[in-house]
Amino acid sequence: MSSLAGVASAVTAEVQEGEALFQNACSSCHGPDGRGTDLGPPILDAGAAGADFMLSTGRMPLDDPHRQPIRKPPAFNSEQISQIAAYVASLGDGPEIPDVDVDEGEVALGQQLYSENCAACHSSAGAGGAVGAGLEAPALNRSTPVEVVEAMRIGPGAMPVFQEETLSKHDADSIASYLVYLREVPDPGGLGMRRIGPIAEGAVAWIAGIGLFVLICRFVGEKE
Ligand code: HEC
Ligand code: HEC
Repeated sequence: MSSLAGVASAVTAEVQEGEALFQNACSSCHGPDGRGTDLGPPILDAGAAGADFMLSTGRMPLDDPHRQPIRKPPAFNSEQISQIAAYVASLGDGPEIPDVDVDEGEVALGQQLYSENCAACHSSAGAGGAVGAGLEAPALNRSTPVEVVEAMRIGPGAMPVFQEETLSKHDADSIASYLVYLREVPDPGGLGMRRIGPIAEGAVAWIAGIGLFVLICRFVGEKE
């Protein structure tokens, strides 16, 4: 057997393993051939990126098909995820798993692109927020760089798709590196107070208020 044929049969074996897992865990909602049912959409063109995103973020398999999928610990190990992704990729013409180089990205560019394209839904510090119709744009502090770029390329649920024509590979690398930076640097840009949130700010205002009150009392006392 030539080595090329060896590679081809390894690929086929991976797809077959993936198909077996798919029939077991996914076909009840997505149909035995991925064409969809009343409980789940067709996934013929979800691609390896769509399957990898849904499985590595634990969104699929979904428990309740009528609720927004949320991030959970993955139900499969990384080998099984690759197998299911290979099977889903074989069904149609979907996006490949993106290749992401955080070190190639520019944090400042990423911050600018993030605030223009993502902050409206995910909030300026990536804490997430409501987007209407009972849906949530989740916090981004647990997403890996690959998941960040997969989300951009596939547009899960209510999120829009950002194709390479809109945000290039370099733009995507930069957004991913900005999100890594946000997580690693506790006080980006000296905004520590804003990131602690309204309760701490309230407490600070309260303490400042007491200080002012004491001053006024003293002043009034001196006058008497
Ligand atoms: C209980 C039903 C159910 C099960 C089981 C399930 N899914 Fe899903 N799946 C859904 C629903 C519903 C959606 C649409 C979710 C949304 O975005 O609101 C979905 C979305 C997806 C998508 C994105 C489709 C797109 O193009 O937007 C992929 C990919 C996917 N599922 C893969 C899988 C895989 C792989 C499995 C098995 C490991 C699986 N699903 C198991 C119901 C299910
Ligand atoms: C219109 C609102 C909207 C915009 C704009 C948007 N997103 Fe999202 N995003 C969402 C929603 C809603 C989800 C949850 C999808 C679902 O139901 O699974 C999501 C999910 C994600 C996730 C998955 C997080 C997790 O829990 O695993 C990532 C990563 C992500 N978005 C990154 C981005 C990036 C990067 C941008 C900008 C380039 C962006 N989003 C722009 C609404 C938005």
